[in-house]
Amino acid sequence: MAKKLFVRTYGCQMNVYDSARMADVLAPLGYAPAETPEAADMVILNTCHIREKASEKTFSELGRLNLIKQDKRAAGSDLTLAVAGCVAQAEGGEILRRAPYVDIVVGPQSYHQLPELVARAARAGGQVLATDFPAEPKFDHLPDGAPQGPIAFLSVQEGCDKFCTFCVVPYTRGSEYSRPVSAIVAEAKRLASQGAVEIALLGQNVNAFHGEGPDGKTWGLGRLLREIARIDGVERLRYTTSHPRDLDDELIAAHRDEAKLMPFLHLPVQSGSDRILAAMNRRHTAADYLRLVEKLRSARSDLALSSDFIVGFPGETEADVQATLDLAEAVGFAQAYSFKYSPRPGTPAALMDGQIAEDEKSRRLGRLHEVLERHQLAFNRRMVGRRLDVLAERPGRKPGQLIGRTPYLQSIHFDGAERLIGRMVSLEVTAAHGISLSGQVAVMEEVAA
Ligand code: 5AD
Ligand code: SF4
Repeated sequence: MAKKLFVRTYGCQMNVYDSARMADVLAPLGYAPAETPEAADMVILNTCHIREKASEKTFSELGRLNLIKQDKRAAGSDLTLAVAGCVAQAEGGEILRRAPYVDIVVGPQSYHQLPELVARAARAGGQVLATDFPAEPKFDHLPDGAPQGPIAFLSVQEGCDKFCTFCVVPYTRGSEYSRPVSAIVAEAKRLASQGAVEIALLGQNVNAFHGEGPDGKTWGLGRLLREIARIDGVERLRYTTSHPRDLDDELIAAHRDEAKLMPFLHLPVQSGSDRILAAMNRRHTAADYLRLVEKLRSARSDLALSSDFIVGFPGETEADVQATLDLAEAVGFAQAYSFKYSPRPGTPAALMDGQIAEDEKSRRLGRLHEVLERHQLAFNRRMVGRRLDVLAERPGRKPGQLIGRTPYLQSIHFDGAERLIGRMVSLEVTAAHGISLSGQVAVMEEVAA
């Protein structure tokens, strides 16, 4: 009998990619996608542990899912509950204890074992836990997935050895691992042949990527991007997330030379204060970051920059906050994410003196938001009247409306026929809003004539 699977994803793009891979692994067992948890025989929560709020969602969602499970059992069927992702990795034992109705806990390095874990849970009728870091890389054991739309995500690197003092990723995702170049290029070719127009390379530390190329030399991300750009059908390339320490000249040169590489870079800085950056173990200064930005912009003058910021890190003073605001003003980010520092169990910063009160963190966040939003709106407004190439991605909320992305990753809505989805269209930007744009299809002269 056909079974149904519902996957709920929290957190980063890596998790979105992993969720699709988990569905691929379970497809041969007869699991087809379900629209809702109620309609499913198995639910996977793919969780995020990066901040406390993200983590808490796991337990409240599990409570809701248990009610569905109990209803199903009363009606003579069942619901298999699996928790995956970084909360599973970090708090596997705690999940089994606090939520004894959970059947499977599986860490990010063990997804390829899901079929076996499902079978074991069914056989044993008890809970199974898989959170070791296995010796064999999971990528070798995962089946191919097809792109869901014109944009495909391709994981090239995983894990992180940077150990920023606030961050759980090195503990939940393990140490840095790059996939072999040949496997990545083969996957990119397959995705392109299945209709992917844009490929986004993913990694927790994507620009730390290094792998042996067909020429026997070690390739970095810049070289890899050039190779993927040569694949027919691939029109656009992006990559995320990068660390300032690993941004080498080859990658900067790729931004200069490679037309398919989109002029957008997410480069988290976290703080503008050297004292805080040192306490965070970021191993770069504010001046290092500004120098990088200058280099990038001289390679590609229209490059749109994005970043992550943390306010209220332990010991952060008014002068440190001001340094962060100054850096944000100096760079003029096209968009950025900012967070209140959230102490994570097991990370060094959680034990540091000088923890900041929550209401003070909120005030600091508000001040930073003001600067970041002002720059984002100014950046968006500069687009009005310009003609931009947009990849039409999906239908918009209103009938007849489509949504796509500009080269600078801005969301843009416009009126257009559904057959345009998956195609590049030339749009004239008609209006700028806080986080998106409106546009209209630019009438080509040859069409008008
Ligand atoms: N508290 C707040 N923000 C955090 N981030 C990572 N760890 C924490 C934490 N403990 C933010 C960083 C990172 C982004 C993905 O999440 O800015 O770049
Ligand atoms: Fe976390 Fe720092 Fe690694 Fe980014 S570079 S994943 S913030 S430890």
